[in-house]
Amino acid sequence: MKGTFTLDGSEVPFHEGQTVLEAARDAGRYIPHLCAHPEFEPHGSCRVCTVKAEGRMAAACTLPAREGLAVESATDELRELRRGLVQLLFVEGNHFCPSCEKSGDCQLQAVGYALEVRSLHFPQLFPDRPLDASHPDVLLDFNRCILCELCVRASAEVDHKSVFALGGRGIDKHLIVNAESGRLADTSLSVTDTAVGVCPVGVILKKGRGFTVPLGQRTYDRAPIDAPPEKAGKP
Ligand code: FES
Repeated sequence: MKGTFTLDGSEVPFHEGQTVLEAARDAGRYIPHLCAHPEFEPHGSCRVCTVKAEGRMAAACTLPAREGLAVESATDELRELRRGLVQLLFVEGNHFCPSCEKSGDCQLQAVGYALEVRSLHFPQLFPDRPLDASHPDVLLDFNRCILCELCVRASAEVDHKSVFALGGRGIDKHLIVNAESGRLADTSLSVTDTAVGVCPVGVILKKGRGFTVPLGQRTYDRAPIDAPPEKAGKP
């Protein structure tokens, strides 16, 4: 079955089973998002994709598209809400973009630019989460984690290794390595695992590759994340 819904007043076609975010993406319409990934089931945790559908807030990545649905996305209210969510993510971790190896390829940074985040607004928490450099090929910097669980999902569902998990609750929720020692070196992770390549920020980094692509020539340096699809940066 096919149908159409409206996104900010213009029609978007959809296929049976698509979410609003998937249909919008296929139609070349950008809705900011972080924890959604085309190869994984929607997760609905970051809420950066929040839209208003018939007067109610909903996550576009989990909202089923349906005939005649009226969806608002590009409104000042929603931009403000998304900006606040992104600012909270920035202050919860340590995201020092100028010195981050993922700068220019980082979706949090790219969405921050798209939402015109010009200040952090909230007090920074400056967490102190030790790096895990134990693995010969992969470095973990937990200070940049946005809890999207893409590595958790990829490691469990694609790599069938369950190397990563989330531990703790609420403000204490954090990424952990599934090994008795807690060290990445004591897992079966390989640098070719899907989980290694799926991180949208700079938590999971391949060693020995830093700055292979110079700053200024990276994914979102070439085109912003919200650019039209033929130009937009793709992770
Ligand atoms: Fe929809 Fe994260 S992208 S909740």
